[in-house]
Formats: sequence, structure tokens, C-alpha cells
Amino acid sequence: MSADSTPLQSFAVINEAIQCLRDGGLVAFPTETVYGLGADARNPEAIKKIFSTKGRPANHPLIVHLAAPDKFDQSQVDWVPVLAPWVRDLSEDALKLVNTFWPGPLTLVFKKDKSVLNELTGGQDTVAIRAPAHPIAVELLRKFKSGVVAPSANRFGKVSPTSAADVRNEFEGILDLMILDGGDCEFGIESTIIDISSGDKAILLRPGVITPKEIFVKTGVEVHQASVIKGDLHDLNLPTALPRVSGSLKAHYAPNTPLRLYAPGRVLDALSEFPDTKSRVAVAVWDSESSLGDDGHPSVHFEEVKVPSDSGRFASRLYRSLRDLDQQGWDLILFPEPPLGEEWDGVRDRLQRACFGSGPSSSSHASN
Ligand code: TXA
Ligand code: MG
Repeated sequence: MSADSTPLQSFAVINEAIQCLRDGGLVAFPTETVYGLGADARNPEAIKKIFSTKGRPANHPLIVHLAAPDKFDQSQVDWVPVLAPWVRDLSEDALKLVNTFWPGPLTLVFKKDKSVLNELTGGQDTVAIRAPAHPIAVELLRKFKSGVVAPSANRFGKVSPTSAADVRNEFEGILDLMILDGGDCEFGIESTIIDISSGDKAILLRPGVITPKEIFVKTGVEVHQASVIKGDLHDLNLPTALPRVSGSLKAHYAPNTPLRLYAPGRVLDALSEFPDTKSRVAVAVWDSESSLGDDGHPSVHFEEVKVPSDSGRFASRLYRSLRDLDQQGWDLILFPEPPLGEEWDGVRDRLQRACFGSGPSSSSHASN
């Protein structure tokens, strides 16, 4: 079934999506971060379909998406009964995070309830949960009245989709997928993931739009950087042998065109590294900076693409730009290195991975 092209779905389409989920099928739906590929979190066969459709290794755990029952005042939602069937040991800090940031782009890793399927946790004793804020996701989850697992709706290792058309392109010819169209995603990069399963320490597993600083300011909960505590993993009893975040593989979110970053003011040096006279290069330039003019490298044909110098707007456009540039047949894409500062950590992380896995051979990196 193809998607309705109107941004907001009718009740009939949502009901059809729910029936599809109940029948063990897959439904792609919009969230405020990226589009998800959804399946019933209580159905092992449906979960297996997600892994086979994405080409994702079975030991890479999925996020369970939940919604609170309808309430007039969302700030009054009691998340405890919503979480109860899925998690045990809900700490005070966890509740603070949930009450402050849900619904929204924050995923939390909890100790799992024993009823949570091993198929979705990759055999770990923890489960990742988030309550998305997109109205179509909320409507779908409320009416479904249970959890929906939803990885980003892309083939494993590829750029996450931020529109219904992206999802359609991703699975064209592979799967006749039902796609709920919610327009373009607001945030454009995947949710921030924080592991609070150890009970006493909150650990950042994947940076996103919600930063540790914002979390500390709003809740007083201190979030530790995974890199800082790396040598410390043993003390925290974290299972280091298992891939906890598939996005933590170096090659992820990768375009087929080679992608490189250039240091501030060093675009000519980066161009010089590619002396092939036939090279056609797309150069992303901050919209706050002046054009490169005709000062390019003499043997390289390059074209400028302006990118937002605001971190939020940059994030919301990043995957869209990478997908569009990837389809335009450039030999190389150059992006400016994001500035230092926590608000840029999410896009820096995605850009660095995209560079590492990019290029025609990216499928060999991405399949690891
Ligand atoms: O914004 C998002 O989070 C999007 C939308 C669709 O909600 N979803 C998403 O899912 O990015 P996915 O599967 O592409 O990435 C989920 C990440 C994976 O890297 C996975 O390893 C990690 O969450 N994860 C899931 N369960 C985990 C667990 N128990 N412990 C640690 N990491 C976990
Ligand atoms: Mg993903």
C-alpha cells in the first residue's frame, strides 16, 4: 500500500495501519526525529521482519515506542503505568527525565521487564524506550495501545529518512510498505539515547538534539559522556561485548558519494587533494559566510551549497542534503567541520560516521 500524500492522515488510514501492525505487518510512520519502520513489539515474527527488511544484524537492539493515553493536559501525564509493562526499577532520575522530556526526542535505556522479547533487545537485559511527539506517531501508538518497535526506516548503514518519499525510495522494489505521511521531520537526526539502566549513572550513548547540558539545567541529572567513562565500563557492569548502539559502528548514516569534512577556511586544501580534472565537487558552505567566489581549484569544478549555521536548522536539513547531493552525481561532497560545542555533537557524530562509510564501497563497511 502506498502513502496518502496529504501531510495529516485520516482516521481510516491510521486504523488500517493499526490493523496491519496487529496482523504482524510493518508500517513506516513519521516521528519528530526521523521516520521509523514500525512493528508490534510483542510479536517475535513481526520483529524478525524488521531485521530482515533492514538488513540489520539480529544483535542490534530496537527502541520500543510508547504513547500515554489521551489526556487533555500533556504535562499531567503519568508515565509510570505506561512504562510498567516494559521496565523494572524506575529510578527517580529516570522519572525526572521522562516527566521533563516526554513526549520528545529522548530515548532511555532501562532494565527490562521479563516479558520484553529477547528478539527486540538483542538478548540484553535492558530495553530502550521513547515516546515520540509527532501527532501521527502519537495517534498510531495510542490507538494501538501497546509498544511499537521502530528503527529508522532505512536500509542498514544508510542515511535515515526524513520524509515519506525518502522511505519509499529506500524500500522501492524490495517491499510494498504502508507509509504514513507526516511531512518533513522537525529535528532531522535520531533521538538522544541515555542509558539509565545501571541505576546510579546516566550515560550518553548517542548524542542528539537534547544535550546533556539541557538535561542538567532542566532536571539536575548529570549525564556522563560514554567516551569519558570508557575505561570505566567494567565498574558500571555494562556488557561491553554486545553492540549496544548500532549507530556506534563507525560506518553509519553513509551516502554512496564520497563525503569529507574541511577545516575552517581550508576548502582549497581539501579540493587540492582531488587533482582529477574531471572532478565535480559539491561544497557545503555556512550560510553566515561569504561565497567562495571563483577562487576554486583550477582543475576542479565545484558548486556551493549553503548550509545553516544554526545547529538545530543544520540538523533538521542534514540527511535531506546528504540524500539530495547523493542523487546529483557528484564525485565528492565536502562539508565544513561543525564548530565545537555540545549543541553540535549530534550532527558532528552523524557527519563523521557518514564520512567514514561514504563512497561506492560503503556497503562493505556498512554491513559490519
Ligand atoms: O529517533 C529515533 O530514535 C528513531 C525514531 C524512528 O524513533 N529511531 C532510531 O532507531 O534511531 P534505530 O534502531 O535506528 O536506532 C536505535 C538505537 C540503536 O543504535 C540501538 O543499538 C540502540 O538504539 N538501542 C536499542 N536498544 C538498546 C539497549 N537496550 N541498549 C543500548 N542501546 C540500545
Ligand atoms: Mg538507524
